[in-house]
Amino acid sequence: MMHETVHKLLNEQINREFYSAYLYLQFSNYFKAKGLDGFANWYMIQAQEERDHAMLFYTYLQNEDMPVTLAAIDKPDVNCESDIAVLKAGLAHEEYVTSLIHAIYSAAYDVKDFRTMQFLDWFVKEQGEEETNAKDLITKMELFGGDPKSLYMLNQELAARVYSAPSLVL
Ligand code: FEO
Repeated sequence: MMHETVHKLLNEQINREFYSAYLYLQFSNYFKAKGLDGFANWYMIQAQEERDHAMLFYTYLQNEDMPVTLAAIDKPDVNCESDIAVLKAGLAHEEYVTSLIHAIYSAAYDVKDFRTMQFLDWFVKEQGEEETNAKDLITKMELFGGDPKSLYMLNQELAARVYSAPSLVL
């Protein structure tokens, strides 16, 4: 039987991941309105990945015969003052999600829930990649975003991102 705290945190994470999808959809919407379709594509795929993450937590709980309780998803809280502000909000959000994953891992560790720890290993690695991607995007934007021609090329680069299903299958 899964420990109550671990169950509660895993269930909450479903909502956090759907919120992440919602947040990135808002980012995509922001860039689409600005005519930066490549950035819009990049965040649309990010939103898809977040929905996948939510479904992995959902499926994991169901596979463990633990009840799933779905809650309301908050309105995205975004500072869309500038392109770089949006990118930085993305990094701050990923760092926050990393702290959530680590908190669940820590709770699972405390009660020797090895199965949940193994499930979360994928997310620990994934968060490292997501933070790196967000940082790279900020670096590129700071280097090239000020020049229209370079911004056009960066937008083209981001337009090439394609969705792939998560490597974790439950
Ligand atoms: Fe599902 Fe970007 O963390």
